[in-house]
Amino acid sequence: MGSQGEGRAARDPEGEIIRLLRATDEGYTSGQEISRKLGISRAAVWKHIESLRKLGYAIEAGPSKGYRLREAGPAERPYNGVEIASSLDTDLMGRRVVFLEETGSTNAVAVELARAGETEGTVIVADAQTSGRGRMGRTWSSPPGVNVYTSVILRPRVAPRSASELTFVAAVAAAEAVGAFSPVRPAVKWPNDILIEGRKVAGILLEMESETDRVRFVVVGLGINVNSTPDTLPPELRKTATSIREKTGSETPRLKLLAALYSALEKWYKIYINEGFSPVAEAWRTYFPSEGKSIRVDSFGRTVEGVCMGIDSDGSLLVRTGSGEVERVVSGDMEPGEPGPDGR
Ligand code: BTN
Repeated sequence: MGSQGEGRAARDPEGEIIRLLRATDEGYTSGQEISRKLGISRAAVWKHIESLRKLGYAIEAGPSKGYRLREAGPAERPYNGVEIASSLDTDLMGRRVVFLEETGSTNAVAVELARAGETEGTVIVADAQTSGRGRMGRTWSSPPGVNVYTSVILRPRVAPRSASELTFVAAVAAAEAVGAFSPVRPAVKWPNDILIEGRKVAGILLEMESETDRVRFVVVGLGINVNSTPDTLPPELRKTATSIREKTGSETPRLKLLAALYSALEKWYKIYINEGFSPVAEAWRTYFPSEGKSIRVDSFGRTVEGVCMGIDSDGSLLVRTGSGEVERVVSGDMEPGEPGPDGR
């Protein structure tokens, strides 16, 4: 891989142009250089410059010198698709960025795009969602200006029954990204809630389309409470949800959080594709505090209570019930149960 931007024609071109112009502190970057580094024609460079100007970027053109960007410092950077794309250091995740100020659900948009043939690695990001989807048919509170709502399109060559393993890939990536900004190490609650001190900071929703023996696509939807404060949350969530800001006392730039998230997702997705589920499960266990503790799981209207024995080789939850038998739970909601006589 070359230096910044080189040899990565697949990356979002407008983000890449902004990155190149910023890399030249003083002076101009020639159209020819941009065209060479991005692997696109001079005419295409010019079209992208025009659309960047329409977005409000002050790009000056000097005759026979090229282009120069005039702007305020990094603190002023807006939350938009160009900034998201230009802050990424990934090859796959975010190679196309679709940014929406407001949408119903980024998962719904991603599913539509994936059905229409969108390539793997495209990400959808919204500043706000009006009908954010949660697990088990719940909703996901998605106020504007504060948090991260994103969906990633993946096309893994795995059997449909293995696709739920990606939920663990996403959970490890989200825990790693949140952990990079939170002073407190996050924990996972099976299968894929991310908690800080027992309160939910991030949630993951996978949606998939497949044939009998082939996954067509998986949409990985991630909602991360970055800068929300209790007053921006519905009253019923105030006791159970938290945000990174509640732990740091200051704002975390969403652009940085997203860059860390896509980078971690790319790393763990590649590990999963190349080495299988076991290293992912191993990393996931380091965030899972419930092994050996009393838990209760609601699964399809049935409650299973007992001691958590961890997860098995496909990610199912193992629970040793009062009768001494170990039950496998493939899907459900897990909560800490009543402690047993030994206090666990
Ligand atoms: C959960 O219930 O824990 C899962 C929440 C997932 C929310 C995210 S926000 C981005 C993406 N779009 C959606 O509509 N949902 C997911």
